[in-house]
Amino acid sequence: MKIFLVGFMGCGKSTLGKKLAIKLGYTFIDLDHQLEKAVGTSVGNYFAAEGEDAFRKMESKVIKEFDYPQNCIVATGGGAPCYYDNMEFINRKGITIYIQLPPAALAKRLENGKDKRPLLKDLDEKELISYIKSKLEEREPYYKCAFLTVSGINLNPEQLLNQLF
Ligand code: S3P
Repeated sequence: MKIFLVGFMGCGKSTLGKKLAIKLGYTFIDLDHQLEKAVGTSVGNYFAAEGEDAFRKMESKVIKEFDYPQNCIVATGGGAPCYYDNMEFINRKGITIYIQLPPAALAKRLENGKDKRPLLKDLDEKELISYIKSKLEEREPYYKCAFLTVSGINLNPEQLLNQLF
């Protein structure tokens, strides 16, 4: 089974994905990491050098061309479902799960992780929360096309598996 985790930056896709993969004995795949391997530099550097449009094109290419193993948990980049037909593609490819968190919780979790995220790195605390609010509103219609929506609050792998199976 191929399970794709989608959701806003900071919702816990990678952390939860790794735990789930261990529990199920599946391979964990981080698509941002695969993109970094493909372009030979970090997401931050690629964004800065080539711009967001080029990043989105490359992101879509990686999503579509990656050779997914039979059983895997895939963490997608926070923007990935919202560009091109990426969400349709992953919905066809496997089971998609939206990890939903409210803006305040996301902001709290992103305070420390914003420096490595090109879209957030220059925002102060106030700007961060309002950016998250408006971007989440724009992105949720895509995230909600996932097969399953789960709350990311205190979410652990066991709970998620209970909801899934
Ligand atoms: C992005 C999210 C990031 C990464 C890039 C853009 C976004 O992934 O793909 O910085 O547009 O939300 P994470 O969700 O893993 O932080």
